[in-house]
Amino acid sequence: MPEITTAIGDAILPHVPALARLRRIVFRDWPYLYDGSDAYEAEYIATYARCPQAALVIAWDGGEAVGVSSCLPLLEETANVTAPFRAAGLDPARWCYFGESVLLPAYRGQGIGVVFFERREAHARSFGAYDHAAFCAVQRPDDHPMRPPDAVPLDGFWRRRGFARRAGLTCTMHWRDLGHTNETDHLMQFWTKDLTGDAA
Ligand SMILES: CC(C)(COP(=O)(O)OP(=O)(O)OC[C@H]1O[C@@H](n2cnc3c(N)ncnc32)[C@H](O)[C@@H]1OP(=O)(O)O)[C@@H](O)C(=O)NCCC(=O)NCCS
Repeated sequence: MPEITTAIGDAILPHVPALARLRRIVFRDWPYLYDGSDAYEAEYIATYARCPQAALVIAWDGGEAVGVSSCLPLLEETANVTAPFRAAGLDPARWCYFGESVLLPAYRGQGIGVVFFERREAHARSFGAYDHAAFCAVQRPDDHPMRPPDAVPLDGFWRRRGFARRAGLTCTMHWRDLGHTNETDHLMQFWTKDLTGDAA
């Protein structure tokens, strides 16, 4: 198992270029198909560095970051992410948002993704301010032309981390898919977990 560290608040800043690179590499694959830019990525991750309660959990191979996972208060997220919570009568101040997990393929299946969830949950619980955690995942049509025949959804992995798909709680994000010239809207489904019980 590689070394896994947690960077909080402005300690995130030195890692921004490496993490931008990882997001771009991993999110090119199904189901994200993300044709990103380092400039957008660096700005996106800097949002985390500006937030004292944000954390990045980083997996290392020697001196190189090979995976990252993020979390921050939902209130710090953009309006498209918080609006569905408000519309559903949920107070964003009580929620910790898990931004993403990206791990290079060669390092998967060794338990690093499990640690990403454990560390973020421990970080969220440490504030005593959040009742719930939430993340969202892109929804693609079953007949999407770029769906690999052997694609395995992460639903089971997420359920085993204690998350459940929250029916009716969705948001829209936009990015340029590979092979497209313009950004398009993407439907994102929220998954949520109650943090008020004992830690798993
Ligand atoms: C999501 C992602 C980070 C998961 O990473 P991962 O390191 O392969 O996941 P893990 O190895 O921790 O877990 C996979 C399974 O292997 C098991 N496992 C294998 N070796 C293990 C070990 N040594 N210790 C603990 N668990 C281990 C886990 O328990 C888990 O099985 P379970 O769900 O039945 O409990 C990775 O698949 C990824 O980067 N995917 C692409 C990006 C993406 O879609 N991200 C999600 C949306 S942002």
